[in-house]
Amino acid sequence: MGPHAASRPLTLSEQADELEEKMMNELNDKIATKSALFNMGDGTLDYVGGAELQARNPGKYFLMGADPRLPKMPDKPTLIDFFKHRFVSMNHLLQSATLALKAGHDEKVVLACLLHDVGVAGFIRCDHGYWGAQLIEPYVDEEVSWAVRVHQALRFFPDETLGYKYPDMYVKYFGPDYKPEPYIVEEYKRARGHKYYMTARLICVNDIYAFDPDAKVNLDNFVDIIGRHFKQPKEGLGFDNTPSSHMWRTLMWPTRFL
Ligand SMILES: [Fe+2]
Ligand SMILES: [Fe+2]
Repeated sequence: MGPHAASRPLTLSEQADELEEKMMNELNDKIATKSALFNMGDGTLDYVGGAELQARNPGKYFLMGADPRLPKMPDKPTLIDFFKHRFVSMNHLLQSATLALKAGHDEKVVLACLLHDVGVAGFIRCDHGYWGAQLIEPYVDEEVSWAVRVHQALRFFPDETLGYKYPDMYVKYFGPDYKPEPYIVEEYKRARGHKYYMTARLICVNDIYAFDPDAKVNLDNFVDIIGRHFKQPKEGLGFDNTPSSHMWRTLMWPTRFL
């Protein structure tokens, strides 16, 4: 929330911000802060410095750990804990993985389907394949993370040999004239000849476009596959000093001041 002039009435969004800020303070005695990216999601480049924020919340310190508004995470969180307490769209992932399992695909393909949209589920939509791949890279076979990265590009290009067409849903979502950007086209061209092409393509084939309310899906069905193919660190995700540990920590504590 930005500083507002006292001379004009608060806009609705400023009122909402004030309310949110008030609620936050009543919920806990720490000040939770929104990162630049969260504000960009509202179309603003608002930034309120620490001193001003603290002046607005006299006697309070900044949150430097868990946000009490979010589900509590265990001290040594596992992938399953993130599924249960942080990922916002588990059903999509479970339905895709269930399709892959029923089709009899290799367990690595099933895991790739289960994890293909963790970028969206945990982070951000833009470039979700790249974010998701980076997040899981230290813990899975390179085939899985490569496929997660590249499915983002492959989705825009048909492969008739597998009956994969350009999704009708994309016409609906992006309009009939939408063309993927050059970096996506380049990614697709590189992927075509790659040894793991089929794994990434199978993510697209098993991806589902709409939530089926009658589908019976359960994370329990995938616990064994996760156990066999996801190298869960004994210290817990976030505390194991890998190139993506900080990403897991950010998911755990998205409103930490620093
Ligand atoms: Fe995706
Ligand atoms: Fe998906």
